Amino acid sequence: MKRIAVIGGTGDLGLGLAARLARSYEVTIGSRDASRAAEAASKVSDLSGIRVIGEENGAAARSSDVSVLAIPNLPSDDVLISLKPDLAGKLVLSPIVPMEFRDGLFSPSLESGSAAERVASLLGTRVAGAFHTVPAARLLEVGRELDYDVLVTAETREVYAEAAEIVSSIASLRPLYAGPLRNSRMVEGITPSLLNVGKLNKIKSPSIKVV
Ligand SMILES: NC(=O)c1ccc[n+]([C@@H]2O[C@H](COP(=O)([O-])OP(=O)(O)OC[C@H]3O[C@@H](n4cnc5c(N)ncnc54)[C@H](OP(=O)(O)O)[C@@H]3O)[C@@H](O)[C@H]2O)c1
Repeated sequence: MKRIAVIGGTGDLGLGLAARLARSYEVTIGSRDASRAAEAASKVSDLSGIRVIGEENGAAARSSDVSVLAIPNLPSDDVLISLKPDLAGKLVLSPIVPMEFRDGLFSPSLESGSAAERVASLLGTRVAGAFHTVPAARLLEVGRELDYDVLVTAETREVYAEAAEIVSSIASLRPLYAGPLRNSRMVEGITPSLLNVGKLNKIKSPSIKVV
């Protein structure tokens, strides 16, 4: 069974993804603090009914085949560089949405490029952008089927296929290839738009489906 580390797995998205992925993978919750990781792991174990462990981020990445970077907006370069040796040669999934909230609305916060491209250039490993439009609140409702599409960016179809397998392990998420990493800016930009639509039209935890 593949091992997946959820880096920053103490936050809402990480907890929700960990609880869902634990059904198909050996999941380790990562945190900057080992005791917070252990606490979150016990929360996820209770939620999923499957034993999940918690470790400091580096140890979690080291012991896993795949890592999901469930860390805020734009992590500093130092955070990513410190994980580089532990992530070398492995698949990394970036759900990171660089976003800000101003004057009552959400907007992308990067002048150019995307979080996924930055992650790829700093880590130098296989990176796919995924899960940007999957609301943590819905993932945490572990009994709920998620009939959403997940746009996945990746430099090649092969890397996309690796990421798609992980996305589709969560019922009923459907991965769709959204092109190479240079397209990540557009995909990451969907989330602030979606949150504005949700806010302005009173739709809780909006997501997407391509029809
Ligand atoms: N929430 C959602 O519904 C959702 C949906 C789709 C995509 N996303 C994206 O997924 C990512 C995680 O979202 P979230 O809402 O779970 O975020 P979050 O709760 O703000 O943060 C997640 C975890 O990141 C760690 N962290 C905080 N500051 C850090 C830093 N400077 N360096 C390294 N780690 C740090 C913290 O864990 P420790 O303190 O334990 O290390 C925290 O629990 C974000 O990039 C977000 O844009 C979120």
